[in-house]
Amino acid sequence: MAKKIKKSKLDSLLGQTVKERKQNVKEPAREQGYSPKSPDEADEGQSDLAGDSEARPDSRPGWYSEADFDETQNAKKIKLFSKLFMRKPEISELTPLQSGSVDILDIISPPSADLYHRDYIVVDGVYFAYLYLTGYGYATTVGNGWLNPLVEAGEGINLIFTINRQQKDKTLSKIAQSTMINRSRMRDVQDTRTDYEELDSAVSAGMYLKDGMNRYNEDFYYMHTMIEVSADDLDLLEQRIAAVQNLCVSQDMFCKRADYKHGESFISALPLLSLDPDIDRKSRRNALTSSVAAAFPFSSFEICDQNGIMLGINQHNRSVCIVDIFDSVKYSNANMSIMGMSGAGKTFLLQLMALRFREQGVQVFIIAPLKGHEFRPACEAINGKYIKLSPSSNDCINIMDIRRISLDTDAELGSSREDSLLADKIQKLHIFFTLLKPNITDEERHYLDTSLIECYAGRGITHDNESLLNADGSFKEMPVLKDLYEILCERPEAKNLALSVSRFVTGSAKRLGQRTNVDLDNKYIVLDISEMSKDLLPLGMFLALDYCWDKCKESRVRKKVLMLDELWCLIGASSNSLAADFVLEIFKIIRGYGGSAIGATQDLNDFFALDGGKYGKSIINNSRLKVVLPLEEEEAGRVKEVMGLSDEEAAQVVRNSRGEGLLCAGRNRISVAFHSTEKEKFYITTNREELAKRLV
Ligand SMILES: Nc1ncnc2c1ncn2[C@@H]1O[C@H](COP(=O)(O)OP(=O)(O)OP(=O)(O)O)[C@@H](O)[C@H]1O
Ligand SMILES: [Mg+2]
Repeated sequence: MAKKIKKSKLDSLLGQTVKERKQNVKEPAREQGYSPKSPDEADEGQSDLAGDSEARPDSRPGWYSEADFDETQNAKKIKLFSKLFMRKPEISELTPLQSGSVDILDIISPPSADLYHRDYIVVDGVYFAYLYLTGYGYATTVGNGWLNPLVEAGEGINLIFTINRQQKDKTLSKIAQSTMINRSRMRDVQDTRTDYEELDSAVSAGMYLKDGMNRYNEDFYYMHTMIEVSADDLDLLEQRIAAVQNLCVSQDMFCKRADYKHGESFISALPLLSLDPDIDRKSRRNALTSSVAAAFPFSSFEICDQNGIMLGINQHNRSVCIVDIFDSVKYSNANMSIMGMSGAGKTFLLQLMALRFREQGVQVFIIAPLKGHEFRPACEAINGKYIKLSPSSNDCINIMDIRRISLDTDAELGSSREDSLLADKIQKLHIFFTLLKPNITDEERHYLDTSLIECYAGRGITHDNESLLNADGSFKEMPVLKDLYEILCERPEAKNLALSVSRFVTGSAKRLGQRTNVDLDNKYIVLDISEMSKDLLPLGMFLALDYCWDKCKESRVRKKVLMLDELWCLIGASSNSLAADFVLEIFKIIRGYGGSAIGATQDLNDFFALDGGKYGKSIINNSRLKVVLPLEEEEAGRVKEVMGLSDEEAAQVVRNSRGEGLLCAGRNRISVAFHSTEKEKFYITTNREELAKRLV
């Protein structure tokens, strides 16, 4: 009866406005005697009471009467409803589906799924099949990253790996129990029976687990490995499944197809941690912490930078290896060191990279101290500038040039150089003369210094950078070695120095002492100094480097690459510490000018010879990227020590054939086969047989 009344009240309330409802909410309070009642209202209350007392006659004074109670309850409910109605004035009677609105499930669910096949399911037109490694199908002993072959199996093959830690105390007691049972069963079984070995291995497995947990505090896990294979058509799906099965066999693992269970597997593969119980049971494998850690599959063996240049194929997983050496987020500097024995492919790789950088619009300088002709065909093919610096060549760069570009280095960024360019140049000329005359004395150095200042002063150039410009703003003409020679000749104390310089003034290398006569405005410049005799080679290298370095400093924002083949010439035993310092400085600060220094070297014994290998090691340490091409065993040992390679990596370096190398990019180390296109190869190969074929 009370219920009926309540319902009828509610019904009438539903038809009222909010204001009316509010008033109604207050009214029951009035009815309960807080305000005077009208006789009619009292009657109405009576009739309610009468009705209730019929049902429950035991209403007592001092208590809430049933009717009062009922009315209070009603008021509360009405309040609640009115609140609800006020918040949501309109209640839609349609389900989200009927109303056409999209909810989260609509978004994440596939529009169609066909689950009526034994061997696969079809979701949105894509075929999926699932395999799992059976509990007994794992290799007994595994190394680090043993799951990687599956992780990197390629397109359409995904790995779902689940681990589930178990309570240690419970597991320990279970293991103890089953080991005990197995032991006692073993006693009843004769050792000639086949199941004797099974029991024996079960006992030793139990002991192994117990030992790991008790002694080494390892945890106990259940792990499950599922493999998802997907393809756009059925044939491809079957091919991929066969490939996965072969891969598993090759890794000493046994997998099974989840026939009739592909739908459940699909859900198990989602990141919901809800493995189907049947698959859970069949694919469950116990493992201790160390074994689970070894399964960690996310060690990257790939380098694939977005704006990089393609270097070759990753030999580990056949993925392409694309490196963006200018990516400052990934690589703290863009320098690269290439090491390898003679014929390993250093020059080939340098040119390959140079051509690809040029294609990206990067300024490239190559300094070739030996076999410079190897760089000529490619340079000419892409309209680069090939400059030959040698006593016999007509090309010349004046070592005494102070270049306008070095004056304007910071102009681009809105500031100007305050330091003296003359002092900077004289400092470099000191290195030049030390290379020219390795036994230069302090006294001679002093005379050289004053003579140089005098020589520049003769052209009106002082430590004030303004003095480099003529009144009309043009750059002053620079002195040449001949001018210096004349000054030195006037001083008897500097006679020996004058004699050394005379080679460039009146002697055989006269052509090297002229004014600069080459146009250096090209994006691909090869400086060939290979025709320089052995004693002049460090000088030629220095001359070329000095020029390139000035060009590099021209802009701090434009990308540029400075490539140095046969780096050992400059920092090896035949060089001296000043020249080596100069090279090292380039490797250290070229990053600040938006550049990259790439050095290639053979003869690592020589490379690490000067000053106990200080320069060689520093250059390697200042190169974020390193490539180790095939090396002899002894040299591989040396590189292993300097670069901290593992035994396996060092052995791999020795085993590699030409054109293959270990690429160390930051912490990633991958084995790469450097690949060229036919066209690139045509221009950069030095292979005698390939060259001979062209003659025919
Ligand atoms: N990645 C490669 N792909 C194809 N051929 C290659 C590759 N690397 C090297 N070669 C072949 O090997 C030859 C020798 O290579 P390269 O001239 O680069 O050796 P190098 O290491 O510079 O030797 P050296 O120290 O004597 O100058 C090349 O001319 C080329 O024919
Ligand atoms: Mg070479």
